[in-house]
Amino acid sequence: MSREKSRPLSALHSSSLVHLAHLRLRDFRNYARLDADFAPGFHLLLGDNAQGKTNVLEAIYLMATLRSFRGVGSAQMIRHGQRGYFVGGKIVGQAEHEIKMFWSSRERNLQLDNRPVKKIGDYLGTLRTVVFCTEDLQLIKGTGRTRRRFIDLLLSQTQPGYLALLQRYMQVVRSRNALLKQHSPDQLLLDSFSEQLVKLGSEIIRHRRELIPKLSPLARLAYRRISNDAEELRITYEPSVKADFTVELAQARDRERRFRATLIGPHRDDLEFLLKDKSAAQFGSEGQKRTLAIALKMAQAEYLTGIHGSAPVLLIDDVMGELDVKRRSGLLPLLERARETSGQVFMTSTEENWPRELAREVQRWQVVNGNLTVG
Ligand SMILES: Nc1ncnc2c1ncn2[C@@H]1O[C@H](COP(=O)(O)OP(=O)(O)O)[C@@H](O)[C@H]1O
Ligand SMILES: [Mg+2]
Repeated sequence: MSREKSRPLSALHSSSLVHLAHLRLRDFRNYARLDADFAPGFHLLLGDNAQGKTNVLEAIYLMATLRSFRGVGSAQMIRHGQRGYFVGGKIVGQAEHEIKMFWSSRERNLQLDNRPVKKIGDYLGTLRTVVFCTEDLQLIKGTGRTRRRFIDLLLSQTQPGYLALLQRYMQVVRSRNALLKQHSPDQLLLDSFSEQLVKLGSEIIRHRRELIPKLSPLARLAYRRISNDAEELRITYEPSVKADFTVELAQARDRERRFRATLIGPHRDDLEFLLKDKSAAQFGSEGQKRTLAIALKMAQAEYLTGIHGSAPVLLIDDVMGELDVKRRSGLLPLLERARETSGQVFMTSTEENWPRELAREVQRWQVVNGNLTVG
């Protein structure tokens, strides 16, 4: 047995801990300038409404994924009256990394360790986050698009070529749709697009089909811990392609002519969440849907930790306030669990409603009108 293998688990965890050590904002939302150092561990951002708590989480998530979890474009994140924003950070793990993002209507600049980022796929692993926010409820209540985005983000965070594959596939869908909109589409060209659609789409389906059975038990465990209920959660993959992509695409030909769009393929996939074999979207209570949304995010965090050996940074926006007391107490073991394996949690709250057991180890910050101070 090698020395490596006989190392205790705790040593492995601490050596692979990744955390955001510094955050720098310039003209981002209501922050004119912010420079803050963060240790690993638990950070509680406290403040009244509309002071800038969520904006901090949004900036961290933006560095990790290059998107806002509020689903808005970059222009909205520029501080009113300014030309562009800057978001930067120092990420400390086994190595140290420096992220710099500048965005204005004229210039978009992303640097990792002072070099321009050429391939987004390579960049995305630098900082991994999982966000918990009110909008998560859309994972259950919203359209399939929200659920596809959830699995696509998870696959992009874990499978090196996945994002590029997805982008190529979506490009083919767009080109094929444009062709289908023409009065009399060139059949040879359509066949060629169909062939690419099947080839790339099948790869995407394969990744998703492999992921869901691994995610489902993690979500079930998380759900059970949060709810203390006996309801058994199961996630099923509902692919648009049932058996043979090529055959089903050919069968859809007449419908595609009528609708002038690509009707078959992973861009039409969905997930179903079942509680005791019944659709949670249709039959679940509000409380069950909330719990389910959190359980899905916990499963995402557990999955990332399992794959990469280091936990993602958790960004928890006002979630505690939404859960009733019983469900809240169920969330604690999960946060404890997240913290054992990970480094960092950022959580926002309007009041100090945080349980005492955790409070001792919490770093508190006061957020007032776009200023963050240790408090
Ligand atoms: N682009 C922007 N420029 C300046 N201020 C902004 C911008 N976007 C949002 N804000 C301000 O940020 C505040 C809301 O921040 P947020 O982080 O959502 O608050 P909370 O503390 O409630 O989480 C509001 O005062 C809002 O006016
Ligand atoms: Mg907020």
